[in-house]
Amino acid sequence: MPTAGEARWWHPVAGADELGTGPLAVRLLGQDLVLWRTAGGVADGTVGAAGGISAFEDRCPHRGARLSLGRVVGDQLQCAYHGWCFDTAGACRSIPALPSFIPPAGHAVPAWQVAQAHGLIWLARDPLEPAPPAVAGVPQRRVVCGPYIVETSAPRVVENFLDTSHFAFVHEGWLGDAAHPEVPAYPVEATPDGRPLIPHYRAWQPRASASSGTGAWVDYRYEVLGPYAALLSKQPEGGGVADAYTAFACPMDEERTRVWFMQFTTDAATPDAGLQSFQDTIFSQDRPILESQRPRRLPVSGGELHSAADRLSAAYRRWLAGQGISFGCC
Ligand code: FES
Ligand SMILES: [Fe+2]
Repeated sequence: MPTAGEARWWHPVAGADELGTGPLAVRLLGQDLVLWRTAGGVADGTVGAAGGISAFEDRCPHRGARLSLGRVVGDQLQCAYHGWCFDTAGACRSIPALPSFIPPAGHAVPAWQVAQAHGLIWLARDPLEPAPPAVAGVPQRRVVCGPYIVETSAPRVVENFLDTSHFAFVHEGWLGDAAHPEVPAYPVEATPDGRPLIPHYRAWQPRASASSGTGAWVDYRYEVLGPYAALLSKQPEGGGVADAYTAFACPMDEERTRVWFMQFTTDAATPDAGLQSFQDTIFSQDRPILESQRPRRLPVSGGELHSAADRLSAAYRRWLAGQGISFGCC
């Protein structure tokens, strides 16, 4: 069961386009959950079951059948086994075997809070914030890359997204240059609410994005958005295409993660498929390293060696520990 730390944050579980007219099984924090929506569309920025999407434990409280095997009947979800019907808040409203019986309030399935943002469906059990993380000051065009399922913990995936000193080795000729493996000294600061932030990090990139044919000095900005979410903004010196990327990871299990990388870009010329294939290539370089790391959970209380080039990773680990995040950590 998740502890309070991670249960207080919003987590992405599915692309909004994955949820059709029937129920959808998803997995979050080691639990099977079911998403379903009542008739009618829902826009980004919507929060709460009233927006049309509900999320329940994927287990009927009657005899434990998976509710994701059921069907949507109007504005209720009907279990496939004995037909009990649940409303958008999870309350049982009717039991077909007893047509005149009015189910009491205790006849209910636990429900999660639901939001839709950045083209994804997000869930929270007991959120600190009213909505998933905002992504401010990024270019308007958004391209969704992934999701990728990775056999490691969500914090390992996010730390890799924050890690710059692997570029010259894992992404040689793409994001890094073997002749320049050095990491300049950079300050790690914090947002007003304490999340780690690097305002400026200058690096040479042979090929920073799908549209760049030549190398460039790039000004990076890194920000931890949540325990399993981060933002990277890139601005080449002297102008050119500005890009921002988010990593939004769904901690399915302690050691299995589903992650989306969103690209926000001023590149109007490269088609979506070109940007997605660039990201697929970059992630195919990261994946074997990520899945090789042991332990798969991120050690937040010692057990690995740090250098001064790992200041952001170290700050991320300290922040996770301070937030009481334990899922995916050791
Ligand atoms: S198990 Fe769901 S209605 Fe019986
Ligand atoms: Fe990488």
